[in-house]
Amino acid sequence: MALLHQFKISNGQVTYKSRFLSSDSYQGNKEHNRITVSEFGTVTMPDPCKNVFQRFVSRFELPKPTDNGNVSFVNYKGDYYVSTETSLMHRVDPETLESTKKVDWSKFVAVNGATAHPHTEPDGTAYNMGNSYTSKGAYYNIIRVPPTKSTAEDTLEGATILCSIPSVDKTKPSYYHSFAMSENYVVFIEQPIKMNLLKIVTGKLRGKSIGDGFFWDPKLNTIFHLIHKQTGEVSSIKYLAKPLSTFHQINAYEENDFLILDMCASDDGQAIANFNIQNLRKSGEALDEVYNTLCRVFPRRFVLPLNVDHETPFNQNLNNRPDSAAISIRIAKNKVFCTHEDLHGEDLHLYGGLEFPQINYSKYNTKPYRYFYGCGFRHLVGDSLIKMDLHGNRMKVWEQPGVYPSEPVFVPSPNATEEDDGVVLSVVITPNKDKSTFLLVLDAKTFEELGRAMVPVSIPYGFHGTFNATT
Ligand SMILES: [Fe+2]
Repeated sequence: MALLHQFKISNGQVTYKSRFLSSDSYQGNKEHNRITVSEFGTVTMPDPCKNVFQRFVSRFELPKPTDNGNVSFVNYKGDYYVSTETSLMHRVDPETLESTKKVDWSKFVAVNGATAHPHTEPDGTAYNMGNSYTSKGAYYNIIRVPPTKSTAEDTLEGATILCSIPSVDKTKPSYYHSFAMSENYVVFIEQPIKMNLLKIVTGKLRGKSIGDGFFWDPKLNTIFHLIHKQTGEVSSIKYLAKPLSTFHQINAYEENDFLILDMCASDDGQAIANFNIQNLRKSGEALDEVYNTLCRVFPRRFVLPLNVDHETPFNQNLNNRPDSAAISIRIAKNKVFCTHEDLHGEDLHLYGGLEFPQINYSKYNTKPYRYFYGCGFRHLVGDSLIKMDLHGNRMKVWEQPGVYPSEPVFVPSPNATEEDDGVVLSVVITPNKDKSTFLLVLDAKTFEELGRAMVPVSIPYGFHGTFNATT
């Protein structure tokens, strides 16, 4: 169940508070003392009080979307929401962490859900993606939400679908956790992690979770689709890459007729299964085996040529950017095959790869940039903090045995002029009862510790956080 945390830094003091999201799922589960709404990996248990016939009928229902917003804090029109990947979000008061309204995407645009990773323009316009399931098949939709409210009670009013891309396989669309955005384009990454809709719909009958309907199909290529943000037009050029799985994009920008697309990616799409409770409960050698067979995630760059036309030559590398090892080859009239370059040195292998990437988003998203931050993953959860300098792919690391830092959140210094002038915040947890949990503050330039605020409670491992400056 979504547990919201707040560290408040004010007048030299740090206070901490947490609150369970008072979602319908939370209330229903609490009331019935069992799981009443299916989550990604959790199956709804049938009500033991119902007779066999009623139970049979109730199992044929479509999975009810959960409003358990446990993935991220997101911002629309200046308000904070907590989101998972269904159609339901909760608007929350960042001060009290209480839900102020349950909001349903499908009341505003024809989608069955939206990701927990929207992108935001400097003016506040937000872009997101969500699937829709129609009698004609599954569609991937690009959504735009206007930057400001017309009335105080506004939530997603004015949201529009910028474009809809049909899934090639009508009943097996790709899963995506996020997408990339450059100055002019939304980049949808159609990866070979597939959702078998029939399996998902009948999962309840078979006692299987939603996650059981996901599968990795390495026979398929990954496809990058470019959608123009102003016109909604989908580029006729399809950029292909070998099968990869990606959860989080780092940045994307356009420079000299190329679109630079940076992401954390892995050659294996079965990563979700790593987090099954069966694995999390292992210890000793069995757990070592899990660690040793994990497919690692590394930061990678693809370089997509934007000016492909009838004169563009075939079968030669179109990437002429200096010092770039990425390859892009036109292989057919409307197809360019892309091979990535690494955004790291050999030394990142010692830290198990990198996930939860963050940048100086407010100033450098969609722009050329030099630094990103992330967690090293030698374990099933992040166990180090890493700063990567793209000039030479050199890295700085913060780590301490037995503690597990969360996604690093970059906060720029007031009036900062340099990209890495600021601090990095991370919530560091430990399973060791003698060591406490703390909010860690690192100097983003040197990656040295500036301080930590200890809290005398255990905090569970989380996904994503955000920084909100108030006066
Ligand atoms: Fe995420």
